[in-house]
Amino acid sequence: MMKPRVLVTRKLLPEALVYLKKHAALEGGKARRGLSRAELKEKIRDKEGLLSFLVDQIDREVMEAAPRLRIIANCAVGFDNIDIGEARRLGILVTNTPGVLTEATADLTWALILATARKIPQADRFTRKKRLKGWELDLFLGQDLSGKRLGIIGMGRIGQAVARRAQAFRMDVVYNDPRRLTLGEEKASGAAFLPLDELLRTSDIVSVHASLNPSTFHLLSADKLSLMKKEAILVNAARGPIVDEEALAEALARRDIWGAGLDVYEKEPEVHPRLLKLDNVVLLPHIGSATYETRLRMAMTAARNLILGLRGERPENLVA
Ligand code: GLV
Repeated sequence: MMKPRVLVTRKLLPEALVYLKKHAALEGGKARRGLSRAELKEKIRDKEGLLSFLVDQIDREVMEAAPRLRIIANCAVGFDNIDIGEARRLGILVTNTPGVLTEATADLTWALILATARKIPQADRFTRKKRLKGWELDLFLGQDLSGKRLGIIGMGRIGQAVARRAQAFRMDVVYNDPRRLTLGEEKASGAAFLPLDELLRTSDIVSVHASLNPSTFHLLSADKLSLMKKEAILVNAARGPIVDEEALAEALARRDIWGAGLDVYEKEPEVHPRLLKLDNVVLLPHIGSATYETRLRMAMTAARNLILGLRGERPENLVA
């Protein structure tokens, strides 16, 4: 039997490539640099399966360039890079990789919360520059977490995992999400529902864990950011465009909010130039799920979803 043709748009882990080669005629999967749009449209022409990443814009034009395409397996939990409506219209399946990255992303969120509240990167830069002259009572003063309120926006798997960790830090946890948790879920995560404005007005740390879609684009607008306390910290390890980055840079520069920890940006790979100049923001390069174990599980999940779909079986993580 002819193996189905699949395209992997950029570097995948070797274990997943070995698996894909067993079951498919594979192109790509090795280059660190991704494909340009023109290259993608050219290479996808004769493919039945596509393994994509969050940096690949898979829209109507790309899908229409691939008349034989049957499944897109995105190697990410987010799938805002794919036009889901168009995929449905064309009868192309789409899968993501939920569940396997929940704990790693919640850990990274806490790393960002702590790094921002305690100015860890700033203190590290200071030490490396040999500026340490001796202990001082007021050197790098940060903020306590215990007894403070954590407000979680987007209470799916990752939001709930972030909330569970907050119990160990003795924080009061509130959340906002279009879907109210069940009582059991609220109890397990120790979190109480609040309307968005009230969450923003009363939280000391606001952490974003929503998915990006038209209803969450610029959810944290200048107006919403202005509700936050002056001493508050904003953390975003979800998707950049949920926060109006220009408004955030302005609020941070004016010290209208105390600090921010960001793992994602509005126009990745660009980081807003104003953010780069500010000392009250911690900037990470979109590494929320980046542990060896988790990235391997993501790669294998995407590869298996792809092959299952091509075999005509139902992959677990269908989003379209
Ligand atoms: C990463 O951002 C993901 O969506 O998996």
